[in-house]
Amino acid sequence: MTLFFGATRSASEPVHLIGFHVAADGSRLYDRLALVIEADGRVSGRADRIAERDGVARPAEARGLLMGAQLALMLEFAGGNSAAEAGVMLDLAPEARRHGAALAGRIAGPGGTAAQPYVMAHAPAARLDRSPTHGWGTVLVAPVSVGETVLGIDGPVGARQTPYSFRTDDDRHVEPTGYGHFVNHACEPSCGIVYDSETALPTLVALRDLAAGEEVTFDYTRTEGDLAGAFACRCPAKVHKV
Ligand SMILES: C[S@@+](CC[C@H](N)C(=O)[O-])C[C@H]1O[C@@H](n2cnc3c(N)ncnc32)[C@H](O)[C@@H]1O
Ligand SMILES: [Zn+2]
Repeated sequence: MTLFFGATRSASEPVHLIGFHVAADGSRLYDRLALVIEADGRVSGRADRIAERDGVARPAEARGLLMGAQLALMLEFAGGNSAAEAGVMLDLAPEARRHGAALAGRIAGPGGTAAQPYVMAHAPAARLDRSPTHGWGTVLVAPVSVGETVLGIDGPVGARQTPYSFRTDDDRHVEPTGYGHFVNHACEPSCGIVYDSETALPTLVALRDLAAGEEVTFDYTRTEGDLAGAFACRCPAKVHKV
């Protein structure tokens, strides 16, 4: 049994994670990770680095070591045409976050590339996958009962509304760095939002009993007012709100 993200889990059980950092050129990058952690701390698995700009994913092999609560992870990208693109080293330690478990640390390329802050989040029932509605979506890997927390929304808070942000008040928007970034709208959503009484950060909660494979969705019109990015809704509902 291995202790990771505050939960005891069997060795060889895949753990789904999402990593985030802002690259040196200012672009926002999300790593979809499916890792297996052996009882002796060895870590292996797959990663896909997804660019916010176009949603294109670059696959990578992940290898690393879990030492206590510290995770050292190497991502090796296929077809990198420079040393800095070929592999990146992540050095991560647990970070106190209001919602869900997280690791924070730095990402550094080989050859002295400047270190960038990096955060990694875990939502036990969720992983990132392609959505039948639009692009990438957050999908359940385990059933969730009505009323249970599905995932927490965390990230920088500012006055700017974006197509990804969650409005928590007038001129207060959270730009999610974890799974929240990939939650699609649905007119009959699987999740609703509750707000932390201290931080006002949102949490997505199951509106009904949900099965593994269902998409994590919420109704953007409940929180966002005018949407930052207009779209024609392609959710499964017969009548659409947007
Ligand atoms: C927070 S992102 C959701 C993640 C997105 N699927 C992706 O791959 O980046 C919000 C954007 O996804 C698209 N989207 C979300 N829900 C949708 C829906 N029900 N129908 C069509 N497009 C949707 C819209 O372009 C919207 O501005
Ligand atoms: Zn719809």
